[in-house]
Amino acid sequence: METQIESLRIEALSALAGASDAASLKEVRVNFLGKTGSISLLSEGMRHLSKEDRPLIGKLLNELRTAVTAALNEKEGALAAASDAAAFAFIDATLPGTKPEAGSLHPLTLLVDRAVQIFRRLGFAIADGPDIETEWHCFDALNTPADHPARNEQDTFYLPDGHLLRTHTSSIQIRTMVQQPPPIRIIAPGAAYRRDEVDATHLAQFTQMEGLYVAPKVSLADLKGTIEFFFHELFGPGTEIRFRPHFFPFTEPSYEIDIRTEALGGKWMELAGCGMVDPAVFAEVNKARGDDAYDPEKISGFAFGFGLDRLAMNLTGISDIRMLTQNDLRFLSRFNSL
Ligand code: PHE
Repeated sequence: METQIESLRIEALSALAGASDAASLKEVRVNFLGKTGSISLLSEGMRHLSKEDRPLIGKLLNELRTAVTAALNEKEGALAAASDAAAFAFIDATLPGTKPEAGSLHPLTLLVDRAVQIFRRLGFAIADGPDIETEWHCFDALNTPADHPARNEQDTFYLPDGHLLRTHTSSIQIRTMVQQPPPIRIIAPGAAYRRDEVDATHLAQFTQMEGLYVAPKVSLADLKGTIEFFFHELFGPGTEIRFRPHFFPFTEPSYEIDIRTEALGGKWMELAGCGMVDPAVFAEVNKARGDDAYDPEKISGFAFGFGLDRLAMNLTGISDIRMLTQNDLRFLSRFNSL
């Protein structure tokens, strides 16, 4: 039987060597390893062997099965690799590929990111609030009484349930102070909404960035220093900054901030409102909190609100603000860094 095993091995290996495709390989597998294949048939002959001979023959048969199986698998792998290579032969891997289109951030987002980075260096944290606000957070708590023109239905989007779309991010000042005691040092970028007729210089939704700093002894000098630091970081140390007295119900005194820099065309541009937090605002916050955490005798604060759309327009050199919302890829991909 040993010679039979040996000749079967030679037969199997030569059949394998002659198999040149998947079909003939399969045939070899069936013929030798299959249930009625020659190796299985030979194994059945074991029955007629003496007890002494069986272990050796059994071992040889196992070795034969293992060897033929391994050789078969190897040949199968080689054939598959060869047919893969043939399938890809027409591809020229040295040709340049098609570049996937990479997206980029919106110019306004880039601007917000830059502004946030600068304020973070001064220790400002980011605060947030809802776009759909209560009248109290948007107006009452900000010392803006019911008969104030800002509350006019012509300026404000009111929802049927009495809520409104916040007309400025100043509502986040209130939300933050009601939630946590001083000291407060936050910036809050976000959308604001007004019933403006949409044209080249107006949108009904725009982007602001609010700032609030409340602590003992915060002064107007701190406000000016902070604003100056910000614009000098953003546009360079040559940037001129002008504080123009103004009125806001929730700050006293109040200013509008203009800046002038060659980077923005060398003309004065009005960019922000600011001022020292009005004690009437602290009083409202204390009432809502039910404590005296914002005692105007012990603390003071400044607040500011930047309009970012105008800034983005100037940085990108567009003259129509609507480009910021039209998602025209020609515009967006041109300003993928600021
Ligand atoms: N909320 C004001 C506006 O939208 C800007 C502002 C913010 C003014 C904070 C003073 C202090 O015009």
